[in-house]
Amino acid sequence: MATRLQSSLRLVARQTGATLARTPVWNRPVAWATRAAFSTKAPQFFAAPHGKVTYTADKYPYLKRDNTFKKLSEEDVTYFKSILVPSSITQDSEDLETFNVDWLNKYRGQSKLVLKPSSTEQVSKILKYCNDHKLAVVPQGGNTGLVGGGVPVFDEIVVSMSNMNTVRSFDNVSGALVCDAGCILEVLDKYLEERGYLMPLDLGAKGSCHIGGNVSTNAGGLRLLRYGSLHGTVLGLEVVLPDGTILDNLSTLRKDNTGYDLKQLFIGAEGTLGVVTGVSILAPKRPKAINVALLGMDTFDQVQAAFKRSKDELSEILSAFEFWDRAAIKLVKEHLVAGANDPLESLHNFYVLIETSGSNKDHDDEKLNTYLEGLMGDEIVQDGVVAQDTTQILNLWAIREGIPEACSKAGAVYKYDISMPVPVLYQAVEDMKARLVQSDAYGDGKLFTSVIGYGHVGDGNLHLNVAAEKFTNEATALIEPYIFEWTAGHSGSISAEHGLGVSKNNFLHYSKSASMIELMKRFKEMLDPNGIMNPYKYLPDK
Ligand code: FAD
Ligand code: MLT
Ligand code: ZN
Repeated sequence: MATRLQSSLRLVARQTGATLARTPVWNRPVAWATRAAFSTKAPQFFAAPHGKVTYTADKYPYLKRDNTFKKLSEEDVTYFKSILVPSSITQDSEDLETFNVDWLNKYRGQSKLVLKPSSTEQVSKILKYCNDHKLAVVPQGGNTGLVGGGVPVFDEIVVSMSNMNTVRSFDNVSGALVCDAGCILEVLDKYLEERGYLMPLDLGAKGSCHIGGNVSTNAGGLRLLRYGSLHGTVLGLEVVLPDGTILDNLSTLRKDNTGYDLKQLFIGAEGTLGVVTGVSILAPKRPKAINVALLGMDTFDQVQAAFKRSKDELSEILSAFEFWDRAAIKLVKEHLVAGANDPLESLHNFYVLIETSGSNKDHDDEKLNTYLEGLMGDEIVQDGVVAQDTTQILNLWAIREGIPEACSKAGAVYKYDISMPVPVLYQAVEDMKARLVQSDAYGDGKLFTSVIGYGHVGDGNLHLNVAAEKFTNEATALIEPYIFEWTAGHSGSISAEHGLGVSKNNFLHYSKSASMIELMKRFKEMLDPNGIMNPYKYLPDK
């Protein structure tokens, strides 16, 4: 049993000298609850009724194919066959569905061709040809994106990066890792683990997502609080521009103040400016001591109080501060194996998962215990456990990482990924629920069945998920643009970490001024004058 934090038991770990998770969480076995759900191929584990997903173009009739783009011809395919081996070209209609449909089963494109280059030179030849012939392109990584950015809208050619998956170099002194963009995040982390390092980002989709996809979405994830954003940890990029130019900026330097920092433009560009083919990233040393605690609380004020104290009392060893609500745990219990792992006795309104990572176990244990005792003593926490070994650490993380999948099993899930000042973070969930109740659209047999809140408290990032019977215009109209107005009205961002894709591009003005959007458009026009890179997305089209 994990150590409970109930009055008489809460000091057990310290009094008996029992160890709190001696083995680092990153040594966890591959086959555990959420991990097992992911394959190294494009995700198919939902037994996705791909054929039944409505075409994006039908769902959003305002989207019109840009007819300045050429339609794919046999001649084009013949060219691609001259530069790629046959196994790197997909035209079979069933195989194409995997690349046409997104993880959420919400977006479905109509591409007739997937190309899987194995080298930067091949990417360069593909883009040059597409640019010369005005063929539109969608770069695709692991297809785990949550805003429909990685799948086509119409007949764009998918350039899948899955065959570019080699580590190019690793510097054991600085921790600089240079790799192909198609390397899977988890595979890179395993590679680094063997060398005493770790990837500076971690997310539930790690078993499928590519580092190139992470960079292109500027993914945040579970430990941004500790290791910072990719805008800081990425040291350099290799990018193929739409005209085929290879921009080689695979620097491994930590400091380099020579000219504009061009790589920053491609971090979070969601494939609209070019294809990222190589990534240089700074890996931190792998912590020797990891502790994970799961806490149950009554109110979001208590969550905030615990967070504030964690910054004071755990400070440099704090590596994650995640939260979820009662609706989230109910779905995890209902839909996922991970739900069976909930070690708390009863349901709580709020849950917090705290992770510490450091280099001295005794020091970290002491700090965490003092912190937890304080929370219990001041009745900020109603119940809690501290993991005692790696398995328990994995189980606690499995609950958190299982939430996105559990939500998606609840029906058609509308996902909002917003950042804002922490004090108003949960109000977004409450206000949304109240709105749906008032509209008589919430509950059994109604349009919406659940409103769920979870996310990265440490980063002021809420994941507001609204589960509906199905995706309909009527349902959408009840949530949008309300949620974006709400977010802007609370000084927030309409996309904290998932990006814009095709689901948020027309709401960009809620977070960026007209002059900023105008400058973005000018960058786009300069680098991609034919607009072939990932069209219909990212920048507003209305
Ligand atoms: P894809 O989905 O294939 O593509 C995403 C975007 O990047 C698209 O616009 C695509 O065109 C572009 N792109 C991909 N590769 C390249 C390339 N090489 N060059 C240029 N453009 C490219 N996100 C978070 O930020 N934090 C989380 O904690 C998190 N957790 C998740 C958990 C689950 C279960 C799931 C399903 C998703 C999660 N995500 C999270 C969202 C998603 O995993 C991330 O956005 C991830 O970074 C996408 O990587 P990918 O390789 O799957 O990219
Ligand atoms: C997460 O934090 O779990 C991810 O961003 C995915 C999601 O929001 O569902
Ligand atoms: Zn997230």
